[in-house]
Amino acid sequence: MRKHPNWMPDEVASAGRENLDTVHAFQYDQKETLDVETELTLLRRLGLSKSSEVVDLGAGTGQMTFATAPHCHWITAVDISPVMLEVLHRKLRQAHLPNVGVSQSGFLTYEHERRPADFVYSRLALHHLPDFWKAIALQRVRQILRPDGILRLSDVAYNFSLSEAASKLDAWCDMLSYDEPEGSWNRADIEEHIRDEHSTFIWLLEPIIEQSGFRIEEASYSTDGIFAQYVARAV
Ligand SMILES: C[S@@+](CC[C@H](N)C(=O)[O-])C[C@H]1O[C@@H](n2cnc3c(N)ncnc32)[C@H](O)[C@@H]1O
Repeated sequence: MRKHPNWMPDEVASAGRENLDTVHAFQYDQKETLDVETELTLLRRLGLSKSSEVVDLGAGTGQMTFATAPHCHWITAVDISPVMLEVLHRKLRQAHLPNVGVSQSGFLTYEHERRPADFVYSRLALHHLPDFWKAIALQRVRQILRPDGILRLSDVAYNFSLSEAASKLDAWCDMLSYDEPEGSWNRADIEEHIRDEHSTFIWLLEPIIEQSGFRIEEASYSTDGIFAQYVARAV
């Protein structure tokens, strides 16, 4: 394995407090549910087929990995958190999917040893890296993909101006209370996300995506200005 220089960040340390917490990991699928059918419909429209090579970066408990596996040739689930991967491994043992690989590594350390990927999928994970490292990570994603390959990126990214930031972030926090039921997101989770993680403005993220070797072909934003989704093609 290649030795990493001392200036490389520790991706486990920046993985997010909750993603290293066993209780959170085992509650995750209850807390956060991906609309896998909508995502699969999109990927199929973009060419996902039984011959596709796919990487799910920051796969977590593998919601998208398990949904995609029956529709592709091979999917590699990559995540830095041992406890999120423990949940994924448990599910994998029950699912009997022969075309799923798992790598405990990160955006900055995953070594893709298979043929260049047709798709890289990443949801709610890139924001764990500061902007400089998002660019390095996306450049590495570009190197994983074949020319014309697709990056499907979804994340918390702020679609508002600097002057709106405080009111928009307050409004986001106000959507939940501190005492939501056990096993649900709560206000403290949102506050922690804003304070301790690295979600950024879309007007910073989009140039980073393009500078990293992609053309953004589709972009959609939640009406509250908090979530962004992209289809970006490797150029
Ligand atoms: C909110 S979860 C999202 C999981 C999954 N993508 C989903 O949509 O359900 C964020 C995931 O990103 C992972 N993560 C954080 N930093 C990472 C990094 N540098 N490289 C890879 N995965 C990372 C965490 O361990 C966690 O599993």
